[in-house]
Amino acid sequence: MKTSIIAITNQKGGVGKTATTVNGAAAFTEIGLKVLLIDLDYQANATSYLGLKHKAKQKGRTASQALLKDLPLDRVVSTTSNPNLDVIAGDMGLSKLSREKILDPGAAMLLKQWLESNSISKYDIILIDTHPSLDLLFQMAMTASHYYLVPMFAEADPFDGLEYMFNEISQIKMGLNKQLFFLGLVITKFDKANATHKKFLSLLEDFCKEHKIKIRGIIPDSKAVASSSSLQKPLVWSNPKLPIAKSHIQLARELKPEMKGVRMGRTQKTPAIVETPEHIVALFDEEPVSRNVEVF
Ligand SMILES: Nc1ncnc2c1ncn2[C@@H]1O[C@H](COP(=O)(O)OP(=O)(O)O)[C@@H](O)[C@H]1O
Ligand SMILES: [Mg+2]
Repeated sequence: MKTSIIAITNQKGGVGKTATTVNGAAAFTEIGLKVLLIDLDYQANATSYLGLKHKAKQKGRTASQALLKDLPLDRVVSTTSNPNLDVIAGDMGLSKLSREKILDPGAAMLLKQWLESNSISKYDIILIDTHPSLDLLFQMAMTASHYYLVPMFAEADPFDGLEYMFNEISQIKMGLNKQLFFLGLVITKFDKANATHKKFLSLLEDFCKEHKIKIRGIIPDSKAVASSSSLQKPLVWSNPKLPIAKSHIQLARELKPEMKGVRMGRTQKTPAIVETPEHIVALFDEEPVSRNVEVF
């Protein structure tokens, strides 16, 4: 199996990118694959979730150090309790890197070139957690990846801002990374007992069919997500019997047959999505407003 690089992306924050990356990485190990997780978000939530933030920073084992100093892979990887999951930690240095390199021609190629000059072939899958912005870090992730996956919540306007992201991806596909392939959506924090969520899914399925977009997985809403970060272990390992853990394993199984590294000669049109259809937005109209309500 060739190494396949998947970016987990959505320019909206708080839609389950990090939870999907961390548990997705653990799920791939559960189905027998060797995984490298690269945390390309300077908030380093994936790194914190795995309990590596402090140690990795102290030892200079971070993505920013790798890229700024061109350090070799074995100098920047952090190991985990599972020999099949390694991590390159995120830290605030990524913010500095993105500011410093912004005017460098070719800066978007930095991660790709770094990966190409290191022996990544021992990994079957590399998952890149991204941060919610279309800046240089996003460009680096999308230029280095073979595939991307877009997590979203069941909410009123799930495609909000995705128009810009798809536009940016179209540009990258025209130049730096022609083979970049959209795997599809993952619906996260889904509550099957919630009638609005159920209706949302049914309408979204119709919409996605029409636009030839795949829904690759439905990840249930689970209180265990919040508490698991204190365990410093992905739920998939700490609570494998929970429905959320099983849904991540199912997602990994669904994606595994797709993983072929670069798909030479196969290009894909980026979805021409402009906005969330009205009838999906309207679904949430009746919901009680629970935030920022001013009482007169
Ligand atoms: N399946 C889920 N069930 C319950 N809470 C979730 C789930 N997925 C994510 N969350 C919570 O939603 C918030 C945002 O998730 P996160 O993965 O950090 O999003 P992002 O990386 O896109 O900003 C976090 O507080 C996380 O704990
Ligand atoms: Mg995140």
